[in-house]
Amino acid sequence: MPNNSIFRQKSISNVLKQSEDSHGSGLVKILGVRDLTSFGIAAIIGAGIFSTIGRASFEGGPAVSLLFVFVSIACIFTALCYAQFASMVPVSGSAYTYAYVSFGEIFAWIIGWALILEYAVSNMVVAISWSEYFVSMLEGFGIHFPDYLTFDYGTAHKAFLANQDGKAVGGDLAAAQAYEHAPIIAGIKFLIDLPAGVITMLVTSLVYIGIKESRTASNFLVVLKLVVIFLVISVGAFYVKPENWSPFAPNGAKGVLGGVASVFFAFIGFDSISTTAEECKNPQRDLPRAMIYCLVICAVLYVCITLVLTGMVNYTELKVDDPLAYVFQKINLDFMAGVISVSAVVAITSALLVYQMGQPRIWMSMSRDGLLWKKFSDIHPKYKTPSFATIITGIVVAVPSLFLDMGFFVDLTSVGTFFAFILVCGGVLYLDYKGMSKDAKFKIPYLNGQYLVGGLLIIALAYSVSQGFFFSEISDKPLLVVFWLVWGALAVMAFKFKFSMLPVLGILTNLYLMTELGITNWTIFIIWLAIGLVIYFSYGYKHSKLSK
Ligand code: ALA
Repeated sequence: MPNNSIFRQKSISNVLKQSEDSHGSGLVKILGVRDLTSFGIAAIIGAGIFSTIGRASFEGGPAVSLLFVFVSIACIFTALCYAQFASMVPVSGSAYTYAYVSFGEIFAWIIGWALILEYAVSNMVVAISWSEYFVSMLEGFGIHFPDYLTFDYGTAHKAFLANQDGKAVGGDLAAAQAYEHAPIIAGIKFLIDLPAGVITMLVTSLVYIGIKESRTASNFLVVLKLVVIFLVISVGAFYVKPENWSPFAPNGAKGVLGGVASVFFAFIGFDSISTTAEECKNPQRDLPRAMIYCLVICAVLYVCITLVLTGMVNYTELKVDDPLAYVFQKINLDFMAGVISVSAVVAITSALLVYQMGQPRIWMSMSRDGLLWKKFSDIHPKYKTPSFATIITGIVVAVPSLFLDMGFFVDLTSVGTFFAFILVCGGVLYLDYKGMSKDAKFKIPYLNGQYLVGGLLIIALAYSVSQGFFFSEISDKPLLVVFWLVWGALAVMAFKFKFSMLPVLGILTNLYLMTELGITNWTIFIIWLAIGLVIYFSYGYKHSKLSK
């Protein structure tokens, strides 16, 4: 590959050598399958299950539990692809490095840029969710935090209008009141989510001074998270009224699929364990297992919790950002609501920490490759952390979380992460095609897709046309055209190159779910990518180490 090409690639042997050089004798390989599963659960369980599940259940009703099953299957296909890469390139750059060795630099940049959505932007949601539980915890202790300091302007204004029309439900009422009573500064209602901004800065300071997430601490926090979830399921089960489950899907398939972003958000994070590949005793064996274990455990818990929540109260009441505590308040079990709020505050803090540590490290890798300014790989002389990148992460996450609405960030995170997942699945097919994965220690079980991809396409098309929903669906969701076209292209390539079936299914399931996110989210994402490309061409392309 000429060194002025945007597709210039790093070779696997180079990446491995670089990681050896930067770690001297290499990192300590201590992590086993149990630790990895625990890390996975630590990263997965966060704002999704503590907060966004509320809005998803509000839109889709009890049937959202089925969406959890479907999304977890898409994630399992993706996890297998991550596992294959992690076994071939066991270094900490995760999807960014995988793209660098498979598709080349421009794709690596694009993935690195998209990962900002998975780490920094998702952390804005986690911070907002933390704030909700924090405020509800204070209420439990009889302390009332001023409402106008806990809501962003957009949410409060929307709720205020809904309330005027008599359409406010769930958490809208508090938000509407916050709007009404907010002080006016320079003619504008002053509303910010102060706890979200403050907790982000506090966690960032900890990350800056080099907090080490020890195995024990992580295991402890995971146990705490699991205890809260078990508590909700086991106590809540006694208060389930089966009549709340009917209708099961009050807003039909559309309502259920409307929760895709929130549900997918709850699963994001399993991929983060691939960044510990260099510290695993046996990454080839343990990473794939751990990813599947943590996904299956979380999927089972999520399904149970959705059934309990939607069984305890009517789904229409779940439009709140602290649903786990809310349902217990609703049935006058204030003590339980208090216990849940306190533990949620601790549990969500740990998720905030994981991503707040991950983001600067990805920027650091990109900067070391010359794709970002050198400053991003500055290491603090005393604390030994990527100091500048950490401060920037703090500002980038804290400021928007003061002012913007959670739903917006959830959608944006999901669209970016789906995109990264699709590229990782595609990367596996590409490496197989190039014959580069023959030495992989873990290989995705091979199921020949030569006829299967096309065969399934014909069946799916015939079914949806014969049932009469093919055209109506496309006119409803024009993005489905992209899905069918990609399926068609994959069918042709699978026929030619005997593609492995599971990565193809990974691409298709992720892409299908991505089409559910709607055109506005895609547009924002495309704008995001365009900004990224401008930065790449004005800086990274010229300064890349590979150009020298
Ligand atoms: N899965 C993570 C969470 O729910 C991002 O917070």
